[in-house]
Amino acid sequence: MDNSLFEKVDHYIADLLGAEDEALKATIQSLDKEGMPQFSVSANQGKFLQIMAMTCGAKRILELGTLGGYAAIWMARALPKDGKLITIESDPGHAAVAKDNIQKAGLSDLVEVRIGKAIDVLSKMISYKMSPFDLIFIDADKPPYTEYFEAALKLSRPGTLIICDNVIREGKVLDAKSHDDKVQGVQRFNQMLSKNTAVLATIIQTVGTKEHDGMAIAVVR
Ligand code: SAH
Ligand code: DHB
Ligand code: MG
Repeated sequence: MDNSLFEKVDHYIADLLGAEDEALKATIQSLDKEGMPQFSVSANQGKFLQIMAMTCGAKRILELGTLGGYAAIWMARALPKDGKLITIESDPGHAAVAKDNIQKAGLSDLVEVRIGKAIDVLSKMISYKMSPFDLIFIDADKPPYTEYFEAALKLSRPGTLIICDNVIREGKVLDAKSHDDKVQGVQRFNQMLSKNTAVLATIIQTVGTKEHDGMAIAVVR
């Protein structure tokens, strides 16, 4: 697909409304410097997540998959002074880079990076009966998205917003015979979502500087 128009328009929007400050630019640069993948959300998607957090009046945010902390920085900037964002990352190297980026953004008091496999950290949070989150952003490994969502529901209250990145994967979700485990993971997730009566949900396609993809948006009933 020719993505050049979507890319140009994405830059147009970002120039108008999605400006990155030095901390966000440095976070993107740190990924190349540290040999980490460029899997962060785009600037406009970061702004979108920030607006969602403000719309929820979020005081407690949970993220699965920290990488360098780019999306976490966007979302944490919507928090009040007594707010909290917990972000879970299984790779200790990624977590260390993220902590550094979050500190440089002046957000260390609001953001906690928890190192561990998301499913293990979530299970602990559930067994400790942790207070519910207002916004949950699922963006870790794709095969267990269904299990992540089920766990996220147990850390939610009516009105909690759950956003899941990368559920369309350049339209590869249309291929019922796909052997790609990431595609299979989000296909299984999307099917589950369509039957899940605990939430009101949709999927928005995302285009622009990143490849064509989609975000599932679900509000807990
Ligand atoms: N949300 C980030 C991007 C996350 S990329 C942003 O937009 O800025 C996905 C991250 O999930 C990677 O850093 C990867 O190491 C991490 N990850 C992969 N498997 C995981 C697991 N089982 N538990 C927690 N994190 C995981
Ligand atoms: C992948 C993961 C992401 O979170 C993303 O935004 C893009 C790609 C991946 O694992 O391929
Ligand atoms: Mg993603």
